[in-house]
Amino acid sequence: MKIFIDTANLSEIRKAISWGIVDGVTTNPSLIRKAVESEKKDMSLEEYVREILKTAGENRPVSLEVMGLKAEDMIREAEILHDRFNSVANNVVIKIPINTYAGYYEGLKAIKRLSEEGIPVNCTLVMTPEQALLAAKAGARFVSPFAGRIDDYLREAKLGMKRGVDFQKGDYYPWDGKGVDDNGIRSGADLVEKTVMILENYDYETEVIASSIRNARQVREVAMVGVHIATIPFKVLEEMLLHPKTEEGVKKFSEDAEKAGYRELFRH
Ligand code: E4P
Repeated sequence: MKIFIDTANLSEIRKAISWGIVDGVTTNPSLIRKAVESEKKDMSLEEYVREILKTAGENRPVSLEVMGLKAEDMIREAEILHDRFNSVANNVVIKIPINTYAGYYEGLKAIKRLSEEGIPVNCTLVMTPEQALLAAKAGARFVSPFAGRIDDYLREAKLGMKRGVDFQKGDYYPWDGKGVDDNGIRSGADLVEKTVMILENYDYETEVIASSIRNARQVREVAMVGVHIATIPFKVLEEMLLHPKTEEGVKKFSEDAEKAGYRELFRH
């Protein structure tokens, strides 16, 4: 499974890349806003985006999102972003929402056109496998089902729970759900599983990015269904590395190594 880091924060991108496990980066306007507020400092936004692309480097795709809501605006913005930034490290992917207005199909039209122009698209805000199927059919290079937001939706709209009160953003929601579903989708992990299954049935080259990942257990579940990519926030990457018995074991082995006189083994 490929791992993308889901952040626009340069220090997080650098740190995760230094661990040797990052295959790409995804941003969205909210992540850019957060990064700009916390660490852009005296750089312009254009310089900051260039720095993200340079840091990721040639073999790591970086998703940048458009802001328009009509197909013609999204296409124009995508072309501008691609023209302006792809020369930095040849790694720009444009994020297009599957849909913007009910009844107008603007996202799909933009995906189709950009794919024909050879501009790679990551279709975002995918909440059903059917949306993913249409995005793949239109030529999207990636589709991003939003696992965490579906878990939020099931809890909020179907179970009457309130985020921040009855549950927190990072809380685990079971793969097989809690007895409610969204038109047959029982959880975010279930959405990812069904999306992968459908695209594989038809051999689409489109890769599925499990997105809106909120905790380590969710990463395990999307990996179990064989998702091609998971885009993971830095905090969740850290969580994936931690276990109290690992820490305890390291501490005990270090103490015993000292007591056994291990240092002698490493002397030149
Ligand atoms: C990544 O492509 C998505 O924009 C991101 O995973 C959304 O995550 P959130 O639902 O936690 O905001």
